Amino acid sequence: MFRATDMSDSPRRILVLFAHPVLERSRVNRRLVDAIRDLPGVTVHDLYERYPTLGINVPSEQALLLEHDVVVFQHPFYWYSTPAILKEWQDLVLEHGWAYGEGGNALVGKITFNALTTGGPALAYRREGYNRFTVRELLTPYDQTAHLCGMKFLAPFVVHSSLKLATDHDVSEHSTRYREALIALRDGTMDLDRAAKAEQLNDVLGARGASGVMGNAS
Ligand SMILES: Cc1cc2nc3c(=O)[nH]c(=O)nc-3n(C[C@H](O)[C@H](O)[C@H](O)COP(=O)(O)O)c2cc1C
Repeated sequence: MFRATDMSDSPRRILVLFAHPVLERSRVNRRLVDAIRDLPGVTVHDLYERYPTLGINVPSEQALLLEHDVVVFQHPFYWYSTPAILKEWQDLVLEHGWAYGEGGNALVGKITFNALTTGGPALAYRREGYNRFTVRELLTPYDQTAHLCGMKFLAPFVVHSSLKLATDHDVSEHSTRYREALIALRDGTMDLDRAAKAEQLNDVLGARGASGVMGNAS
């Protein structure tokens, strides 16, 4: 059942590092994360809930990373990047001699990607659009951080126009896609080479992912 590009023989364990500073006001991220909480093999780790004053426990975070094969950064897009706690998490947890540098091999071979929501429409995230860069281009620091740590960086899973998603039905389409992506990664049925090269992970999730969810250009 596994694709030639994905030779893993046991299910991957997935860690979702979730960062939303005002979850009670979230419409989309809350729904996305609720759609994957119950999945066997998936650990949802709410960073703002765990560390409301940003006092990150480095040994505990490193231990969590070691227990998982896939690291997902799930967050709303804030100023073309992540909410602040994810930067703090990176600065403290990805230590020299542990994540990179001499003897820093703890994350080698793991898979990582961002799952994010944008206020702006898909059309804005292109050369001619008002944001000028694609979401993937704007995530270059994440790409290079993964590379430095020996991790495989996949294209981001993106929900655009999140403030305009009119109905619960619109959000649930995306939630279903997100859940499918994590299941495929967990079970080794995702084409990792395509996922690494794609502009957005949504593009490799089958016909509906490519035309339906990705097609929200407004
Ligand atoms: C501080 C802040 C910065 C934001 N920066 C961006 C941005 O750079 N690009 C963008 O498309 N949307 C931006 N937004 C909109 C958020 O991405 C949007 O509100 C969020 O994705 C909605 O998800 P939620 O329902 O889970 O809160 C920003 C919002 C806030 C509050």
